[in-house]
Amino acid sequence: MQAILIGFMGSGKTTVGRLLATELETHHADLDELIVKRAGKTISTIFEERGEAYFRQLEQQTLRDAIAQPGILSTGGGTPTIAANAAILKASPVPVICLTASDQTILGRVAQDTGRPLVDELGTQGLMALKQKRAALYRAAADILITTDNLTPAQIVAEIKARILQPVHRVAANG
Ligand code: S3P
Repeated sequence: MQAILIGFMGSGKTTVGRLLATELETHHADLDELIVKRAGKTISTIFEERGEAYFRQLEQQTLRDAIAQPGILSTGGGTPTIAANAAILKASPVPVICLTASDQTILGRVAQDTGRPLVDELGTQGLMALKQKRAALYRAAADILITTDNLTPAQIVAEIKARILQPVHRVAANG
């Protein structure tokens, strides 16, 4: 992998990951999509039939496989909040980029989407409590934090490119 995107549901991981991969002319993988492929079921069906704990097992196995592949990986909102997954991310040399956004922005985005079992289960207040509870875990897992509220996907991608390419420029300038 060249970069891994983490962040709460609705933070833009998939949209930004796809665009970043296009601009870097590399492959994009979305962890949720890989899980759906692996299970042959939607995320909602996995939660419904087997529960969240089973989903987390699948998520961890899929993360282990995906992290070894080239390209950009967009994770699920819960991925880095599980200790074993956080350890997998920390052990990888790939930059971990956390996209953050205000409660208002997140709610505006996830309200329009379907297929997120936790959104249906927790409701607005529960979801925002979960976001707050997870914030420190995202920060701990991230190498780079980007606040996306007033940025377009293209602007976010430009910011990520500048930040992940920066050390290379510095080395080149010095050497
Ligand atoms: C989850 C986020 C979802 C998906 C699953 C659980 C979470 O991914 O992995 O519904 O625990 O926050 P997105 O962040 O892509 O919606």
